[in-house]
Amino acid sequence: MSGLHVAIIMDGNGRWARRRRLPRWRGHLAGVDSVRDVVRAAPDLGVSTLTLYAFSSDNWKRPPTEVGRLFWLLREYCRREQRELRENGCRLKAFGRRDRIPKSALAALEEAEAFTREGQTLLLRLAIDYGSRWAIAQAARELAQQVKAGKLDPDRISVDALHTQLTQHLPEPDLLIRTAGEQRLSDFLLWEAAYAELYFSPTFWPDFRRSHLEAAIAEFRRRERRFGGLAPVVPTAAARELLSATAEALRAG
Ligand code: FPP
Repeated sequence: MSGLHVAIIMDGNGRWARRRRLPRWRGHLAGVDSVRDVVRAAPDLGVSTLTLYAFSSDNWKRPPTEVGRLFWLLREYCRREQRELRENGCRLKAFGRRDRIPKSALAALEEAEAFTREGQTLLLRLAIDYGSRWAIAQAARELAQQVKAGKLDPDRISVDALHTQLTQHLPEPDLLIRTAGEQRLSDFLLWEAAYAELYFSPTFWPDFRRSHLEAAIAEFRRRERRFGGLAPVVPTAAARELLSATAEALRAG
């Protein structure tokens, strides 16, 4: 899988619903249509990894009825979409804490993960009960355990070692999109997105479709990524002429 890694903070479901005088959960329900559309579109747009922030660890602060609906939607999504996901070569994989996910949602999720495990076209990663500070602390704890067990020299704890522990060799996001106008990361992929291009869309998630993803990727492709280095030097026409004349003169001896 060598295409783009796009990560999305799907925001604005509640506001979308409020504008329509609907209960908040209807916004989440409509948001599932956007998930389906974006997942279908991703491979055509050159995306090979798509990471969606489906439920943050902070979302437990919401009323239990809303939390219950969100996990119900997740369960139904897994049950209903796993066949299509597999047919389209899409592999679903969740990350985050699993111990607090309601049983029936977890069972559906794990079934969909197993059912789609051979998918090679798109890796669909769902962040569920996830927070990146927690994930970084987990990775640090794991390295500390290895030190305690005598398997790791503390001097070898480096950026690379922590990176590998945290990402398990998954590619870093190239592009991180947040919908609905807010411009913050909300504890999403803080380490992994160190060099990601950020794209903030004013569109509420339930209105976000293939065309919006396409626009975000087009904008990403126009940007110049330097990773802390310098912009590549593009020689002017005059400089190119001089270079080729010099090369010619050298060849002629
Ligand atoms: C943020 O909108 C969105 C969420 C907390 C949940 C996202 C969940 C879905 C799109 C549906 C289920 C997902 C899958 C993968 C099946 P918000 O409620 O914070 O919106 P607001 O800021 O306008 O209130």
